[in-house]
Amino acid sequence: MPNAVTLYPNARFTAFITSDNHIDLKHSCPAVPAAFLTASLKDSAKSARLPDAYITVGDTTSRGETGNWELAAECFRGIKPARHIFLTVGNHDLWGDNGFEAAKDNYLKYSNAICGTDHTGTWFSHEVNGYRLIFLGNTEDAGCEAHLGQSQLDWLGAELDAAAGRPAFVFCHQSLNGRHGLPRTWDREESATDPMEGGIGTESDSVAAILKAHKNVFYFSGHSHMGLCGEEKKRAEGYASFEQEDGVTLINLPSLACGNHHGDLRSRGLGLILEVYADRVVIRMRDFTRRRMIRRVAVCGGKPYWEQTLK
Ligand SMILES: [Fe+2]
Repeated sequence: MPNAVTLYPNARFTAFITSDNHIDLKHSCPAVPAAFLTASLKDSAKSARLPDAYITVGDTTSRGETGNWELAAECFRGIKPARHIFLTVGNHDLWGDNGFEAAKDNYLKYSNAICGTDHTGTWFSHEVNGYRLIFLGNTEDAGCEAHLGQSQLDWLGAELDAAAGRPAFVFCHQSLNGRHGLPRTWDREESATDPMEGGIGTESDSVAAILKAHKNVFYFSGHSHMGLCGEEKKRAEGYASFEQEDGVTLINLPSLACGNHHGDLRSRGLGLILEVYADRVVIRMRDFTRRRMIRRVAVCGGKPYWEQTLK
């Protein structure tokens, strides 16, 4: 099975990205989601060039209980998937038997141990190879939605200002409201009636305005467990995993370890590889368990990968 190789030579930054791993001791077979997470980590580690980052976009666990995090940490143990590891917080990570604060403490304790970081909150940024990676996270229990707060929104704007037009990558568990087919793609039954359902919620317009005020912004989300959807789905149904809006690129990831819906590709074990070059950004779909790039679905100009020239 082939090790991952970048599309072009001279990539300046590369990352393996997964979402919604949902490690869960209450799963009918907890070893299943753990196996998908481990497969993605091993695939990343075997890349021809060790990726600069392995990133998840939230819901590493189904509930932020100690046992779930212990199992997640066990998956990472002994594997170096990338130079850096970053775990975005998801709504499920912040749910637990002992409430929001206890779940948040577990997220901080275990994500810091896994990633070798010293974060004190759910939102943070890192610069790797000159590129800004910005991670958003809830500051209070907001159910399925996000609650970022004005301080975090101001900080997001300042972070994007600091990127000064260089490509910047924002990771937030929830997508903006109404994108990627939401709210109808929130659930396989298409029963949603609230236009905000499945998205960030009340702060969506504020976040969108901040993103759109900057050049070369890429916004990654997960949360809806929607499979990978290409441009044919966009033509037929009006939504896709890769969307562009006023210069901002919006990317929604499938769940790595849960069943997906609404997608051209709904199987488990899927995620993305981000490759940043001097003049372009390439995002490719990969099957981490079969260890091969996905070529069956066209997502950008007939090509099975997103390719965008920088402005
Ligand atoms: Fe999830």
